[in-house]
Parts: sequence; C-alpha cells; structure tokens
Amino acid sequence: MKGFPKDFLWGGATAANQYEGGWNEGGKGINTSDVMTAGSHTVPRRVTYKNINTGETGSLTGFGPNMKLPKDCIPAVIDGEYYPSHIATDFYHHYKEDIAYMGEMGFKTFRLSMNWARIFPNGDDKEPNENGLIFYAAVFDECAKYGIEPLVTLSHYETPINLTIKYGGWSNRKCIDFFETYAKTVFKYYEGKVKYWLTFNEINCMEFAPFVAGGLSDPSPQNKAQAAHNQFIASAKAVKAAHEINESIKVGQMLAYMPLYAYTCDPNDQLMVMEAAQTSLFYADVQTGGHYPAYRLKKYEREGIVLNTEPEDFELLEKYSADFLSFSCYGSTTITTHDDVSKTSGNLMMGIKNPYLATNAWGWATDPACLRIALNTLYDRYHKPLWIVENGIGWEDKKEADGSVHDTYRIDYLRKNIASMRDAINVDGVDLMGYTMWGCIDLVSAGTGEMKKRYGFVYVDRDDQGNGTLERSKKDSFYWYKNVIATHGENLD
Ligand code: BG6
Repeated sequence: MKGFPKDFLWGGATAANQYEGGWNEGGKGINTSDVMTAGSHTVPRRVTYKNINTGETGSLTGFGPNMKLPKDCIPAVIDGEYYPSHIATDFYHHYKEDIAYMGEMGFKTFRLSMNWARIFPNGDDKEPNENGLIFYAAVFDECAKYGIEPLVTLSHYETPINLTIKYGGWSNRKCIDFFETYAKTVFKYYEGKVKYWLTFNEINCMEFAPFVAGGLSDPSPQNKAQAAHNQFIASAKAVKAAHEINESIKVGQMLAYMPLYAYTCDPNDQLMVMEAAQTSLFYADVQTGGHYPAYRLKKYEREGIVLNTEPEDFELLEKYSADFLSFSCYGSTTITTHDDVSKTSGNLMMGIKNPYLATNAWGWATDPACLRIALNTLYDRYHKPLWIVENGIGWEDKKEADGSVHDTYRIDYLRKNIASMRDAINVDGVDLMGYTMWGCIDLVSAGTGEMKKRYGFVYVDRDDQGNGTLERSKKDSFYWYKNVIATHGENLD
C-alpha cells in the first residue's frame, strides 16, 4: 500500500476562541465568542447580554439559527458567568511549549486562527494593535524553528463584538471593508512567514448559527443571505489582496462538509439528501466555484430575498475564487423523510441514527468512508486542491496517575480515517494537500463549551469549571501520530 506524497502537509488544527485564552491581554478587544457561556451535551451554550438603558442582563441560546438579541440589548460579559474562551487552554502563554510538542510529532503544518479582535480590537479601528501583531509574529517564528508551515484562519467563530453592536454584524456591507483592511494588514505584516490562509471557518454555518458565524444580532433570512454574500465578497477581496502582495500566498475556503446519506431508497429521501447537500455546497459553489448556483437564486426568488450588491461583486467572485478548498469532516449524517426513527446529534446539524455506524458519547457518528466520499465529491465538483483541516474524535479521556492517557479509541478512529484519505489519493487520484487533525492539543469544545470533550494528542489539565493546572502531557496517540508522519502515512499500526 502506497503512503502519502512526501510533501503532504501533516499537522493539527486549533482555533483562537477555543485554545488561545488571554482574552483581555495585550490590548485585545472582546469578540462574539467571549460572551458565550459553557454548556454541555444537553444544556446549550448561551450568549449573555445587557440592556443599554436599564443595565438588566439576560442570555439566549447561542448556537442556533434564531439567536436574536432583544430590543436595546447588546452582547456583554456579565459578572458571575463562566466563559470558557477567556482562558481556554492558554496557548497565549504556552505557545512555545505547545509548538515544541508539535515539532516533536513532526508536524509539517499547524492550523490556528488569528483573533481578529487581537489585531483590530473593535473591528473598525484605523490602526492595528501592535501588541497583537507581535504576538502572532512570535508564534510564527516559533513554528519556523521546527519547519512548521502555519495555516491561518482569519475568522474562526469570532467577530469583534463592536461590529455586532454598531453594525448588526456581517449583514452590513461595511464589514467587507473592515475585513479587507484586516486581511491586507496581516498579509503584509506576515509576508514570508505565512503562506496559507483561510478566510471564514465553516462559512456555511451561517445557515445554522448566524451569531457564531457572522455576529448577527438579527438572523432574519434576508440578513443571513446578505451576511453570506458579504463574506463571499470579503473572501474574494482577500484572495485579490493576497495575490497582489505576493503571488505565492494562497487563500483557501473553509467549509463544514459531512456526506449525507438517505436512510431509505424512498425517492423522497433521495430528494431530501439532494436539497440538504445544496445547503452546504452552495457556499463552495460561490466561494470556490466562483458563481451563484441557479438553485440558490431560485430559493431567494421564492423567499423574496433581494441581495444588496455592487456592480463589481459578481466579477470579483469569479475572478478571485478560493485558491483551494479546505473542509472539516468528522463523520456522515443520515436523514430521512420518515419519522419513525431515532435521532442523534451531529455537528450543528441533526441527523438520525445510522444502524451501520458507531457513535461517540455526544452522538457523533464515526464513518471513515465519509472522508473518501467527501474528497471525491468535492474534487469532482471543483477540480481544485483540497485540504482536510478538521477531523477527529471528541472523547472523555482518563489521565492516569503517571500522566499517561491510553486513547486507543482515538488511534483507532484516526487510523481508519487516514486510510480512507490514502485511498482517495492513491485509488481515486484526488489532489489532497494536507490533513490537520482537529484539536491537536486539548481545547474547549465549540458546540458545548466543555473541556471533557477532548480531541488532542496532548492532554491539558483543565476541567469544565475552569479548574486545573493547564499542565500538558502526551497521550498514546501522540506517539502513534508521530510514527504516521515519520512513515509518510505508510505505517498506521
Ligand atoms: C468544527 C468547528 O465544527 O467542529 C470547531 O470548526 C469545533 O471549532 C469542531 O471545535 C468540533 O466540534 P465540537 O463541538 O466538538 O468542539
């Protein structure tokens, strides 16, 4: 069995709001994730807010399609609430140690996100925050010591909160200009240090979680459609700016993609799958494919949605589509029009229980074949290089007294998933640039705000209430992944 190409970008992925911490240090502003409380598998995370006239406080479910702030209320950090993003697992103070672990595993790449509010604290500032720029420069220099190529997401579920309060979030076209300034600033500042960038994490989450994905204070269908359009234009402008600064900088799209299966061969189930797939693929059709697909234009027509566009928008989309398409893929989702089957939870999208697949404690189905299916579907549709930037399994790990963690379930999951990617490359000829396993150092779960849903190769001593020493220790999967990288994916045992 052949392995992976010698220049394959092996690594791990993180996001500032779940990993970095230092929420009010170094001149950083507050962003949308800083007002999200912790939740659990059964209790949703909340967004806290206060009334600007009365000072009264309250909260609403944050992850969900309908989070609308009450009149005169703004998102705010409230005394007495626990916000897991504030310290997270403290990459801010542990970056040297953490990057050394990545170096020891032989990482070729490290996906992290830059906290927009660390660079532009209010989002609309005229000048960047020098301390923020210096922090990430130090991170990239540390990566360079180990030959690790950074892959940087410009916005991973975090929008400076001022953009929500003052402009209503991404439904306002002004956000395009603010984002363009941000992108140009960091592309120039880190020229020579960072070659690979992503614009918006899981851009299609605008459908399911508009506050999280776009800082929207009012998620009406019109606002969501406009916010998505504005993020497409901002992404195209980022590609344009990057290429003008330096042709070798590559700016990719990031999509949440889970293959969908019909539960039965009932044609109604097949139609349901087709339509549900369009909900996600629409985002790649525009950002990677370069144009609005007919099915989405018809939907807008039916729903009376009229986009606010500029004459040059559509040319920009076509001319500056994404250089590559990256995506997250944790498993598959099974759906049906029949209602006599039990449900399980997926990553923001609910599905039903697939009798052929096992699930973890959070109800996520594990399905190695889905990576090969996803890679083929996306490669056939867009003919652009692909990059799996999130894949992994959340598990409640047990740390032994000697610091070891025997995570055989994680090794088993990754072994099968990596073999599936290998088939996509060697059997199907897919052009896959790299693989960054999600949450390579333990971090906060985005969906639940928990610490106990762990993904990492490295355990971090911190619990769901924010207790713990933040001490790091290697799990069994650490040594296993190190060997996978060293053998270019030939030895998965
Ligand atoms: C992806 C997100 O959807 O899934 C990550 O981009 C997230 O931010 C990951 O952490 C895993 O989800 P969760 O809810 O288990 O953290």
